[in-house]
Amino acid sequence: MNQRNIEIKKYSIESTEIAKPEIHNELIRNVDIVGFGYPIYGSDIPKNFMDFIDNLQKVDKKQAFVFTTMLLFSGDGAVVAKRRLRKRGFKVKQAINIRMPNNVKLPYPIFKSLAIRNAEENDKVKQKAFVKLSKLADRIASGKNWVQGWDPLNIAGGLMQRVEMRLFDLSIYARNYFVDDETCTQCMQCVEYCPSNNIEFKDEKFSWKDKCILCLRCYNLCPEDAIQYKEATLNRDKYTRYKGPTDGFTLNKLKE
Ligand SMILES: Cc1cc2nc3c(=O)[nH]c(=O)nc-3n(C[C@H](O)[C@H](O)[C@H](O)COP(=O)(O)O)c2cc1C
Ligand code: SF4
Ligand code: SF4
Repeated sequence: MNQRNIEIKKYSIESTEIAKPEIHNELIRNVDIVGFGYPIYGSDIPKNFMDFIDNLQKVDKKQAFVFTTMLLFSGDGAVVAKRRLRKRGFKVKQAINIRMPNNVKLPYPIFKSLAIRNAEENDKVKQKAFVKLSKLADRIASGKNWVQGWDPLNIAGGLMQRVEMRLFDLSIYARNYFVDDETCTQCMQCVEYCPSNNIEFKDEKFSWKDKCILCLRCYNLCPEDAIQYKEATLNRDKYTRYKGPTDGFTLNKLKE
């Protein structure tokens, strides 16, 4: 965007400052275009991001764009946000899905056979993502529409996944989490960086509450791979954790 002479500012909705409605609503009022980015969960918007959108102060036809990250298939997952943002007064001109490295390796059918790629393989995925992002930047700069996933096939596929995900309370999946005490160093990173404050440490024990959005951050980013999802993941060689983008990623960036 900077290369196209468009000044940008980017913020995480997890930033303590930005999470305040008066701060983000003011920021939105004062810019020409607003972009919304989130990971696809079951062709849908993660709960915390959905709440963020639904509570935005109404605007009057403010230009916007949506980009999502995904693993394989997101159906109409970007269009879902386009529709919800329209209700808040946004005019979404671009809504696209970008494939990113796999970060889901869990003992479930399909997911257990999906490999976490090495840095070199992930770089290839990221290069493709960068090409797509460049195209998105061009479209934003020229004001051209670009919406993915609005066709009947993607809408039907997306709906099937979404209905299933919305029927279940995702926090039931968090019941499978436990900590391997032998490797845990009690650094408390998992507690601090859970986006829904769902992990509690009390009387020397960790417990997962009922607000999990299933982002897998605790599981993937524990520095000791001490967080387990069922007994099977104790086999760390088989259940490799994804450690995030290699290019300068640190956990505190999630709150900037
Ligand atoms: C609960 C859950 C559901 C997901 N559903 C989908 C999906 O429907 N389609 C897809 O392509 N990827 C899906 N993924 C993969 C995520 O989209 C992918 O991991 C995400 O873009 C990575 O972003 P993050 O690192 O910010 O979590 C899912 C991941 C999780 C954790
Ligand atoms: S992040 Fe891992 S090592 Fe740190 S407290 Fe949590 S489980 Fe233990
Ligand atoms: S997967 Fe872990 S980090 Fe993510 S919301 Fe659930 S408990 Fe929190």
